[in-house]
Amino acid sequence: MSKKILNVGMLGAGFMGRTHSNAYCQVNHFFNTPFQPVLKACYGREEDIEATKKFQEYWGYESIETDWKKLINRPDIDIVDVVAPNFLHKEMVLEAAKAGKKIICEKPLAMSYAEAQEMVAAVEKAGVPNMVSFNYRRVPAISLIKQVVDEGRIGRPFHYRALYLQDYTISTKVPAGGAALWRLSANIAGSGVTGDLLAHSIDTAEWLNGPIARVCAYTEIFVKERVNQETGEKVKITIDDACMFLAVFANGSIGTFESSRYARGRKNYNTLEINGELGAAAFNLEQPEYIEFFRYADPVTGQKIEDHLTGWQKILVTNGEHPYMKNYWVPGTTIGYEHTFINGLADFLLSLDKDTAAGAVHPVVSVRQAARTQLVCDSVIKSAKDKTWVEI
Ligand SMILES: NC(=O)c1ccc[n+]([C@@H]2O[C@H](COP(=O)([O-])OP(=O)(O)OC[C@H]3O[C@@H](n4cnc5c(N)ncnc54)[C@H](O)[C@@H]3O)[C@@H](O)[C@H]2O)c1
Repeated sequence: MSKKILNVGMLGAGFMGRTHSNAYCQVNHFFNTPFQPVLKACYGREEDIEATKKFQEYWGYESIETDWKKLINRPDIDIVDVVAPNFLHKEMVLEAAKAGKKIICEKPLAMSYAEAQEMVAAVEKAGVPNMVSFNYRRVPAISLIKQVVDEGRIGRPFHYRALYLQDYTISTKVPAGGAALWRLSANIAGSGVTGDLLAHSIDTAEWLNGPIARVCAYTEIFVKERVNQETGEKVKITIDDACMFLAVFANGSIGTFESSRYARGRKNYNTLEINGELGAAAFNLEQPEYIEFFRYADPVTGQKIEDHLTGWQKILVTNGEHPYMKNYWVPGTTIGYEHTFINGLADFLLSLDKDTAAGAVHPVVSVRQAARTQLVCDSVIKSAKDKTWVEI
């Protein structure tokens, strides 16, 4: 199939700039999409120019822009990829929608649900293809849990449990502000672990277990003042360092969610478990190629599995019949973190053409769906602030 050129404008040159650039470079090595992405231009601020030049060199971007509006409006840019800090997402997405560009945006979609609604309205009015990068849905093992749930193998769900733990801000010497630590500044990040980490857990939870109806949350700030990296002055920290919340799902099951950047020893510990009447499933990102599955009864016959065979099974998710895996290596060989972005991009590119859309493993997460996650995040923060349950 001859491929249509898709010129990429990358708005950001950090961690996610790298994962997304890698995905554009790799996607057609593994998936037969109708597009050939070309890394046309990347954006970095004047003060970040040296880092942006290195980024350009590593990934092969044809040019650099220090003005993101100019980059978005260049006639040779087809797709705008927003991988900048959260406070820029809204303005960048609105500009891209106005310019009629295809849009990929990192999570959290916005700083607030009000912002997210504005973005949904603009993107839907422009009618442009869009995707928000909730990449954990594209871990084959999590995608297999989705299949297991949809096949009725969990049965009536009772419990959902999610942890998302890190430990990199424990030291009081970690400064706030500056390019690398924008996550500690409320005016740049919006919220702390709620938007940064729990947004992922919430997106996955609602995908697997349906909408959350109400939440009750508690947040904590462990280090209340830090030195600002740029000014050298002490600043008050107002983002949530840790957040725990209880959730009641619309299907009647109940959930617990916990996230922290102070969980000593945990680097990117992202886990989930769902327990139902007929079975249970669990996932841990530190062993991303496995799911654990407990089969209690057959979903069709309702017959209990023989006693001597009941127990947790650890399933290696690398077979051709597992989600996404037929596109990679032979059974028994694993893939990793970067492939979640390749898988998401493949679904996006395949879905852009009616002849290939059926080849997408899952529909993409639209800005509208990501706005829903933003609403849950806002409700969690509101609940913690008001010390009460919040209906969603
Ligand atoms: N899907 C995921 O798993 C995942 C993981 C990490 C980050 N993210 C999201 O991706 C986005 C980018 O995060 P990251 O980890 O790549 O950040 P990063 O700090 O690694 O990179 C951010 C980029 O933006 C630039 N930048 C910083 N401050 C800026 C400012 N004030 N104005 C303009 N540019 C600025 C930096 O120079 C850098 O190029 C965020 O929205 C974040 O929430 C998603």
